[in-house]
Amino acid sequence: MSSDPRPVWATARVVESRPVTDRIRRITLERAAGRRAAPGAHVDVRVRTPKGDDVRSYSVVESSADGSRLTVSVMLAQASRGGSLFMHGLVEGDEIECTQPLQNFELRHGAHRYVLLAGGVGITAVIEMGRVLHRLGQDYRFVYVGRTRAQMAYVDELAGLHGDRLELRVDDEHTGLDVAALVSGLPDDGRTEVYMCGPIRLMDAVRRAWLSHGRLIADLRFETFGSSGWFESESFEVEIPELGVSTVVASDASLLEALAAAGADMMYDCRKGECGLCEVKVSSVRGRIDHRDVFLSDDEKAVDETLCICVSRVAAPEGGAGGSGRLTLTL
Ligand code: FES
Repeated sequence: MSSDPRPVWATARVVESRPVTDRIRRITLERAAGRRAAPGAHVDVRVRTPKGDDVRSYSVVESSADGSRLTVSVMLAQASRGGSLFMHGLVEGDEIECTQPLQNFELRHGAHRYVLLAGGVGITAVIEMGRVLHRLGQDYRFVYVGRTRAQMAYVDELAGLHGDRLELRVDDEHTGLDVAALVSGLPDDGRTEVYMCGPIRLMDAVRRAWLSHGRLIADLRFETFGSSGWFESESFEVEIPELGVSTVVASDASLLEALAAAGADMMYDCRKGECGLCEVKVSSVRGRIDHRDVFLSDDEKAVDETLCICVSRVAAPEGGAGGSGRLTLTL
């Protein structure tokens, strides 16, 4: 992945906000002209939440040629920490702070063929890639996975542009995705790249299938904004005895946020489970660690000796025995 340029914050005005599904809104922002957002780009947005200002990242689904109009699509999260709620409350004329388009999910040119794979709101990260591949006349498939058609944004637009290249996999229509078949059905010539964004279960299943077929991991590229956990987010206790810190992580807060609020000065960078800078040692856990990062290996996650505190959390022991989750960390 390429590194981002430094984020430059500026005021942007909301020029459109409308629903595209029950829970997803399309929001267009106008800001100073710059460059068109490249496929896979995102903007960081300063959101106001009941706990104060915070930053969220949203993929750019559409950009004007000069980058002065950027459209994002935001799903109202079930366990919203206030970010998506804030975004859904925006109306035309509101002003917010956002960055220029930033890039860490670049579409590489030169592959023989491409597969775009989106699950749910993960469609936002690959929609512009699809437009570019179509425009360039590339060989590609566009696989879009969802629970119900009503929850899937932009289906009509995608079908209109991509025709037969679009494969809708809809659980409640019994056309759900067979991940193993998808991966094993790709040519073995090492000239196919997959770009995916969606729930962690989908991305993890694809990654496992990809590796078990001996494919190059560099040809499997992903964006993590759409990631969810293995378990529902619930509150749990955390302590770091060396710092004298003990607190409760609310279901709508991250471990990193809760520790910061309790006065622990923890290291972090990406806050998306990618860089590993926030990895901390676990000295004991009651419950199940919900590893939501893509930094640790499967083996590292299996032994639960560390976790990435920006995204990972703890779920109560199976069956609820022993109460809520509890985590003790060591520095
Ligand atoms: S801050 Fe990058 S993985 Fe947590």
